[in-house]
Amino acid sequence: MKRRLAGAFSLHKPVLLDSVLSQLTLKAGQIVIDGTVGSGGHAEAILKAISPEGILIGLDQDEEALKRSEECLKRVGGKFILKHSNFRNLDQVLSILNIHKVHAVLLDIGVSSDQLGDPKRGFSFQAEGPLDMRMDQAEGLPAGILVAEASVEELTSIFRNFGEERYARKIAYAIVRERTKKPIETTRALKELIERVTPARYRYGRIHPATRVFQAIRIAVNDELGALREGLPKAFEALERNGRLAVISFHSLEDRLVKRFFIEKKNLGVGAIVTKKPIVPSDQEMEANPRARSAKLRVIERSS
Ligand SMILES: C[S@@+](CC[C@H](N)C(=O)[O-])C[C@H]1O[C@@H](n2cnc3c(N)ncnc32)[C@H](O)[C@@H]1O
Repeated sequence: MKRRLAGAFSLHKPVLLDSVLSQLTLKAGQIVIDGTVGSGGHAEAILKAISPEGILIGLDQDEEALKRSEECLKRVGGKFILKHSNFRNLDQVLSILNIHKVHAVLLDIGVSSDQLGDPKRGFSFQAEGPLDMRMDQAEGLPAGILVAEASVEELTSIFRNFGEERYARKIAYAIVRERTKKPIETTRALKELIERVTPARYRYGRIHPATRVFQAIRIAVNDELGALREGLPKAFEALERNGRLAVISFHSLEDRLVKRFFIEKKNLGVGAIVTKKPIVPSDQEMEANPRARSAKLRVIERSS
């Protein structure tokens, strides 16, 4: 079911909601951080569980997402604080708020359906829009600059490493060749170029041939892996004893980072891994919400 937010419907359905709620061992009165508050789907349920005395701190690097979540959380009531921030700066946010320890942190990383569904943000090749893809529109360079200026080697490495794209080099060459004739400024121009230079059979696969390249560019533009690498230790540090960190990731590079970080904490004797294997959505959830297909939830508990 769609939720009505900011005068429009939110397209975003929170992934693995029941598992997140039970894994975070929530009780009234706790302080909880949602580091990727998005459209407020998880946050709404968390706030209900910790109200009336508890406090939800919601961060997002996307100002538009914060407007959506504010509307949603206002309806719940309870105490919440929303901050425009990357979760890689979680320590600074807590210090400003004078909060030292929290019971739980949730990171539901990646992009929301509301971001994907807004053509002017340029995340999706399914609608025409500017090549932007920045989650924080006040920071960093839009995707169009990367596509216009990166070398064949840089583009190849981005497509290969962040998208596991088998035609990475071929697509990178085609971009560099094309842009000497005409700038590639829109999602459609990039999509059509990828369709032209990849083998015809690629077009009839399970996913569109532009999927991996768009994902790779988005990861690069937003430095998503860098943010996760910096954010995980800060989230873990913020936990009280027996507090829990839950991370939902959507591709193998992120999941590997999370898994390694958790093992490191376990080996240091400061964390207990709660999910020996990641929790994945049921067939039913995947059917109702195709975006959930690649989701993996891992949870760690701070032991000292
Ligand atoms: C998958 S959505 C989260 C959806 C949310 N859990 C819900 O139920 O509505 C991811 C959100 O996290 C934000 N985001 C991604 N990486 C971030 C980061 N490093 N710091 C802060 N926000 C981030 C995106 O802007 C997006 O709004």
